[in-house]
Amino acid sequence: RFEGVSMAPPDPILGVSEAFRADTSDVKLNLGVGAYRTEELQPYVLNVVKKAENLMLERGENKEYLPIEGLAAFNKVTAELLFGADSPVIQQGRVATVQSLSGTGSLRLAAAFIQRYFPDAKVLISSPSWGNHKNIFNDARVPWAEYRYYDPRTVGLDFEGMLEDIEAAQDGSFILLHGCAHNPTGIDPTPEQWAKIADLIEEKNHIPFFDVAYQGFASGSLDADASSVRTFASRGLELFVAQSYSKNLGLYSERIGAINVVCSSPDAAARVKSQLKRIARPMYSNPPVHGARIVANVVGDPTLFNEWKQEMELMAGRIKNVRQRLFDNLSEKDNNEKDWSFILRQIGMFSYTGLNKAQSDNMTDKWHVYMTKDGRISLAGLSLAKCEYLAEAIIDSFYK
Ligand code: LMR
Repeated sequence: RFEGVSMAPPDPILGVSEAFRADTSDVKLNLGVGAYRTEELQPYVLNVVKKAENLMLERGENKEYLPIEGLAAFNKVTAELLFGADSPVIQQGRVATVQSLSGTGSLRLAAAFIQRYFPDAKVLISSPSWGNHKNIFNDARVPWAEYRYYDPRTVGLDFEGMLEDIEAAQDGSFILLHGCAHNPTGIDPTPEQWAKIADLIEEKNHIPFFDVAYQGFASGSLDADASSVRTFASRGLELFVAQSYSKNLGLYSERIGAINVVCSSPDAAARVKSQLKRIARPMYSNPPVHGARIVANVVGDPTLFNEWKQEMELMAGRIKNVRQRLFDNLSEKDNNEKDWSFILRQIGMFSYTGLNKAQSDNMTDKWHVYMTKDGRISLAGLSLAKCEYLAEAIIDSFYK
């Protein structure tokens, strides 16, 4: 009976790490998955995480089940970190927050909620977007379409196209937006553009759905990176926000994040939360506690919170340094004098190089540089020492 099961293709992002592990070359470089490495290209556990874990041991915390909605201390600090503790939505108790399995799990929970309560609505996803977005809505049976986002001619935002497509969508659609550090392009709207997007979404009665996977990691400031979400929330709009602590606290394998639903009244928020719990229970029962306690300890303690901000600045700063070095090396080595400055304009963990699939294949097959086939490279996996090698590989592949 299982003989009829066909082989699934490797995952476009996590499959790259599998291929990297199988490569025996010593020059190999994994720029596929967005995971932070040190200058020595080693994984990094933040000092504040170790301190938070020590606190947990000292306190002798137990392993009892969490409530379906997760750890109360975590849910409180995560919503405050996102919206600001003094924001009206928090003060008025209008946010339903449910701890979930990092970004993906939170998106999935919201997708199941959309499928149940808005069966006729479509989700609009940026073109391009993080590869897993489409899988999540497909599996939740939520129809989706794309809106224009990236303009290959300017290697920038196709703002007009984006507005046109959001305008053309049926009223009451869900518009999936990347809160900061758009994945994969690294291109974000400006604050003025965000305000125009919010105007249009409001006019069309759409529901914004933010994916916030890099708060504090894009600019190095937690508040600045949440400003897009706060712009929308301050207008009194109802919205979704999925949060992840994989990158900013380096808690990749702890699967810790949350789904926040801003409602128009505390009463509606209580009802929405009850329904999210109802969806979570048969899916995974209740969430794991370890990562939630780490976040609650770090964000809830002023000393650890400040140390975290410093460590985040360090990580974001290292990525900015390799971004600059890669640009310098590309500009030096490129005899065709192509303008590579788009690399400096992109923000966050990634650079969207513009390499097509064949060129990306050349990067891997000839140069042992592992990356996704859409031309995205994770600068978080790059060291200053490897920039020159990478620049040679990019130039060779680009002019092939
Ligand atoms: C990525 O885009 O590389 C990360 O968000 C990891 C993932 O889960 O795909």
